[in-house]
Amino acid sequence: MRQKMPEPIQWEIETNTLQLLDQTRLPVRMVNLTCRTHIDVCRAIKRLSVRGAPAIGIAAAYGVSLAAFHAGLETDEPAQRNQMILHAIRKLSETRPTAMNLFWALNQMKEVLSDHKDAPSDELASLLLRKAYQIHEDDRHRCEQIGEHGVELLHDRYRILTHCNAGVLATGGIGTALAPIYVGRQRGMIFHLFVDETRPLLQGSRLTAWELTQAGIDVTLISDNTAAYAIRKKNIQCVILGADRITTHGDVANKIGTYNLAILAKEHAIPFYVAAPLSTFDPTIASGDDIPIEQHDEVALTESFGKRMAPLRVKTFVPAFDVTPHRYITAIITEKGILRPPFRDAIARVRADCDGEFG
Ligand code: MRU
Repeated sequence: MRQKMPEPIQWEIETNTLQLLDQTRLPVRMVNLTCRTHIDVCRAIKRLSVRGAPAIGIAAAYGVSLAAFHAGLETDEPAQRNQMILHAIRKLSETRPTAMNLFWALNQMKEVLSDHKDAPSDELASLLLRKAYQIHEDDRHRCEQIGEHGVELLHDRYRILTHCNAGVLATGGIGTALAPIYVGRQRGMIFHLFVDETRPLLQGSRLTAWELTQAGIDVTLISDNTAAYAIRKKNIQCVILGADRITTHGDVANKIGTYNLAILAKEHAIPFYVAAPLSTFDPTIASGDDIPIEQHDEVALTESFGKRMAPLRVKTFVPAFDVTPHRYITAIITEKGILRPPFRDAIARVRADCDGEFG
């Protein structure tokens, strides 16, 4: 990588605060947002200052430790303190419905709380902070492993299409979908990335095009509706993107527009790869139809640049995510290796090997 990558999530020890790179300000400004309470973290997740499934989980875990520090200051009574922390966990879990990693991380924090429910408040707060650090650090490793496995699917000079942002800005490390690109680049491989702008919130143009450019990778930004033509005219050789939740059968929820790309990849006979850590897999859901899908406010569609772009009272449908049925997916890249169809069996096998790492 040409220059130091941005750090989207940092715990500041001196002030006991969570520092988030405010992604709503990118690519124009790199400014941090300071979270002092779990309520600040909830707000940051809801307004997408921190976003991307693994990053949301990490930020929420730090949010729980902030709640524990404050609860310990407010009461000496463990039962009352624990209730306050549980309330914070509930609030954090209500911020965004689709990313599995949020619930996975909060469950881990809940386990620490229940294992140490009678511990003195300062001890409990540091145990929860240590767990949040561990979740963060652990994600960094998972990203590297995803990169190592995923790069085996790529070739030098590949032309690759990606969607939304599943890179450094979305994780605790070098990303999921973008991790193989960064690993390949470190090995001297050259890639050309085609980046969908990703309407309506433009994570592709604002975030992915920015972080890849920072890393010195060749990028061509396209509008979402250019994808089919670009695959054909620009000789794109594969699609690689991230996931917010993966079912036991391998159906994938990811940013709205992902399903379109899966159909396009099939039509053009190019591989369609999904990259995600095991913390994105939901062991309780088989069909993608059962994944809760976040809806954007209609303003995301009816207004742009502060101006009205649609008639008043027009009906809208603005899902933030869609679900790609497993039959469109060529392979799922995880930190434990590459899963191939039938995904139901492949996922069951990985699960049997490492249950605790699942969502
Ligand atoms: O709404 P966002 O920006 O949080 O959506 C993010 C995505 O859809 C990513 O592709 C997904 O979370 C994977 S991030 C490694």
